[in-house]
Amino acid sequence: MKNGTCFVVLFGAGQIGAMVSRLMGPGYRVLCFADNQPAKWGTALLGIPILPLQEGLALAPDCVCLCVLDEERSSAMEGQLRSEGYAGAILRPNDLQIFDARAATMRLLAEQICEANIPGDAAELGVFRGGFAALINAAFPDRRLHLFDTFEGFSEADVALERGLGFSRAKAGDFGGTSTDLVRQKLPFPGQAAFYPGHFPETFGPCEDTVFAFVSIDADLYAPTAAALPLFWDRLSPGGVLLIHDVNSTQFGGAGQAVRAFCRERRLLPMPVCDLHGSAVLRKN
Ligand SMILES: C[S@@+](CC[C@H](N)C(=O)[O-])C[C@H]1O[C@@H](n2cnc3c(N)ncnc32)[C@H](O)[C@@H]1O
Repeated sequence: MKNGTCFVVLFGAGQIGAMVSRLMGPGYRVLCFADNQPAKWGTALLGIPILPLQEGLALAPDCVCLCVLDEERSSAMEGQLRSEGYAGAILRPNDLQIFDARAATMRLLAEQICEANIPGDAAELGVFRGGFAALINAAFPDRRLHLFDTFEGFSEADVALERGLGFSRAKAGDFGGTSTDLVRQKLPFPGQAAFYPGHFPETFGPCEDTVFAFVSIDADLYAPTAAALPLFWDRLSPGGVLLIHDVNSTQFGGAGQAVRAFCRERRLLPMPVCDLHGSAVLRKN
């Protein structure tokens, strides 16, 4: 620590590392990224140099932040740090998830939408086990919540397109292991929920005449995201919003591609949200 500044090495020069560097407060200074991939050494991410771990540790950081989200990789990286002789503080991935900018943004938007009496229902495309859907349901206790998912994970057709376009290495069936019952049990106001299990956009039919005030789009892949954007946007109330996840994702490049193409076509500029995966807000005038 010098003059109250904590000097940090970000271990992991990927998408999470990039987001963490943007989230750093004024009391923190990033010295460098450290990464295990030799191809990245000597290059930079967001203007910050990427070094081998040993060279990063030679800069004598006050803290090393593990910039991955899965337990397996974070344990391996922690072991590597200790075996390199690093005895200082380690910020772990779970610490990174204490604050969730996407959830906070959704709650603020919900407060605003309710205060301003913007008419319309809430919805989510891409529900999985209902973690975010439960938060939406809590934030909009008086509104219908339309929930779209295969509830069987990614479909073969979407994944084939995704791979063909080189957007991700998604596999059919990823995000399986869920059910409408499991999600329903998580919802604080289950009576407000309507479930549309199956492949989107074929399941959208019952909502043709629905007006929306808030929609979360979190399907990860290009095809469902590209299909969802005009369907929900054209049914949004003025002042209503789409909150789209994974817009800056390097793991799932298709969602961001779909958003950028839609915004070009409709002459919209998305408002970025600095969560760890990169979300965006599109608000209707
Ligand atoms: C990342 S998960 C959603 C996570 C959830 N929003 C959360 O934050 O807890 C993505 C979901 O999108 C769903 N999905 C992807 N393509 C779909 C499609 N064409 N139709 C329906 N669901 C789809 C998957 O089944 C998966 O459950």
